[in-house]
Amino acid sequence: MARAVVATAYGDPGVLALVDVRNGSPGPGQVLLEVRAAGVNPSDWKSYSGAWGTDPGKLPLRLGHEASGVVLAVGPDVEGVEPGDEVIAYPVTGAYADRVLVRATSLLPKPAGLSWEKAAGLMVAGVTAAHTLEATRVGAGDTVLVHGASGGVGAMVVQLAHAKGARVIGTAGPVNHEYVSDLHAVPVAYGPGLADRVRAAAPGGVSAAIDTAGTDEALDTSATLVTDRHRIATIAGFRRGAQLGVHLLGGGEGADPGKDVRMKARAALVRHWENGHLDVRVGATYHLADVARAHRAGIDGKVQGKIILKP
Ligand SMILES: NC(=O)c1ccc[n+]([C@@H]2O[C@H](COP(=O)([O-])OP(=O)(O)OC[C@H]3O[C@@H](n4cnc5c(N)ncnc54)[C@H](OP(=O)(O)O)[C@@H]3O)[C@@H](O)[C@H]2O)c1
Repeated sequence: MARAVVATAYGDPGVLALVDVRNGSPGPGQVLLEVRAAGVNPSDWKSYSGAWGTDPGKLPLRLGHEASGVVLAVGPDVEGVEPGDEVIAYPVTGAYADRVLVRATSLLPKPAGLSWEKAAGLMVAGVTAAHTLEATRVGAGDTVLVHGASGGVGAMVVQLAHAKGARVIGTAGPVNHEYVSDLHAVPVAYGPGLADRVRAAAPGGVSAAIDTAGTDEALDTSATLVTDRHRIATIAGFRRGAQLGVHLLGGGEGADPGKDVRMKARAALVRHWENGHLDVRVGATYHLADVARAHRAGIDGKVQGKIILKP
């Protein structure tokens, strides 16, 4: 028997419960993973909030798309993975658990020096960031505006863009400006007057913009400062983004899920960590049983860095 977090209904984090679940043995192509840490992402609380529908047939909803852990058992035809292997798992369905069945193709070896917590928080934000940079063709010589540079995805975008040789201007709340500077971006406060502050920080102009905040302000400022709409992408502001004709990336109507780009990016993210080009800021760690508290902290924007759950 395993323990897993489920949403028992649609609503606020009060609907979350830690319950017994039966995994069974891994089938063909599957691996049973002992979860050491699971990454928390905004899509986790959006999934049961009602914002994406309230189909009672989907309840109880398992949560969590990324984890790190140790392989406990492998299915009949699985090669290249063995019990005892320390791995990063993405994508996962139901990573908020102490044990979970995952596809063997979801696994990557975890470098020994990468903590369980950082490993669990690397993939969702990292592959999304890689997708935004590929869609907007960011490279050396670019000046990129990143909205939400202190966030899980934004911090990855900043680090990967910097590694490509781009100059980065990153918006964040004042409390996070030092962090954004540490990531080698020029911090700028979001809010009224944003376009002028970005112009002052980038006198030579902005060649591409990536929005992880999803606000009209972020998208309108991007459209004002970047001439080519194909060099603007959003992962969160799909309504305004569609009106402006910029790249819409991820899940959602009219958006590019970028499955292949994202799957390919996984190994590169691990290499970037190994080369010292990127790191994961862990803001808070909670026990699985405290998942409702963890989600409330995330929804309130109170945690600076990734939220991690541990069994
Ligand atoms: N489409 C996809 O494939 C995909 C994938 C992953 C995530 N997402 C979505 O992308 C969004 C960001 O995810 P995340 O994991 O990075 O979230 P996160 O870690 O909570 O980061 C949110 C960021 O937004 C910033 N922010 C808050 N209010 C803002 C404002 N008014 N203007 C500009 N920035 C503001 C925060 O800055 P401060 O804290 O410094 O104030 C923080 O940097 C979420 O909506 C998530 O659901 C989409």
